[in-house]
Amino acid sequence: MRAHSESARAAGRRVALVPTMGALHAGHMSLVDYARANCDELVVSIFVNPLQFDRSDDLEAYPRTWEEDSALCAGHGVDVIYAPTAPAMYPEGFCSKISVAGLSEGLCGAHRPGHFDGVTTVVAKLFGAVAPHLAVFGEKDYQQLKVIQRMARDLDMGLEVIGRPTLREADGLALSSRNVHLSPEERANALCLRRALDQARALAAGGESDAAAIKDVAVQEINQTPGARLEYAEVVDAEDLTPLASLDGPARMALAVWLGSTRLIDNDALN
Ligand code: PAF
Repeated sequence: MRAHSESARAAGRRVALVPTMGALHAGHMSLVDYARANCDELVVSIFVNPLQFDRSDDLEAYPRTWEEDSALCAGHGVDVIYAPTAPAMYPEGFCSKISVAGLSEGLCGAHRPGHFDGVTTVVAKLFGAVAPHLAVFGEKDYQQLKVIQRMARDLDMGLEVIGRPTLREADGLALSSRNVHLSPEERANALCLRRALDQARALAAGGESDAAAIKDVAVQEINQTPGARLEYAEVVDAEDLTPLASLDGPARMALAVWLGSTRLIDNDALN
């Protein structure tokens, strides 16, 4: 991979990377399309990263759809699929990790020990192998995006890390590889995430600036939905992700909710 990228770079080609764990859907493909329009050499990585899973059942259940993924990539003009094996990524004796303090600790980080260290470590390795000028991530994993942007800045990785908007089903459910695990009933109840975000946004748009009041409407919406179990709902600063008491600057609401054994996350800007 590195040799291929180096020769592309030497020929003056702009290299873009869209890192994924496969099970590609329209959300991923919107990142791919954006990258395609902004580079010469387009690489999609597909690697289900064991280091970022805090539960082995989640790792095992993660959908693996290689045939469909490669067909989608071919149809969207991807030049290279980089799909290393786990032993190639983490050979015996591997013992390094990258950790982004602060940003990684709240929200999902507080509930999934080690998750973001796993993400930053693998993404740093992918950046090392692909040497992209540009890498594109989805805003659905907003905390992940902010953590990776910070890592790239702090460690002078010399690339641009771009976030792109979340793609949604017509009824508002954020596209996610985990949606395939939802039963029809859970799929219907999963709309509580979008409803909670909409209510929080409406309250903020109406002039409410008290973060606790905004959080309350979201929590109530989740709690009154059958089968939905709230993991967290937070109003945070849109850049450093610290919890806010009031909406003085750009703010984001972030949610994690369980539907049965499926954990879904979503977020949206509040102002
Ligand atoms: O968002 C994902 O799919 C993964 O966390 C990533 C960025 C590909 C790292 O494994």
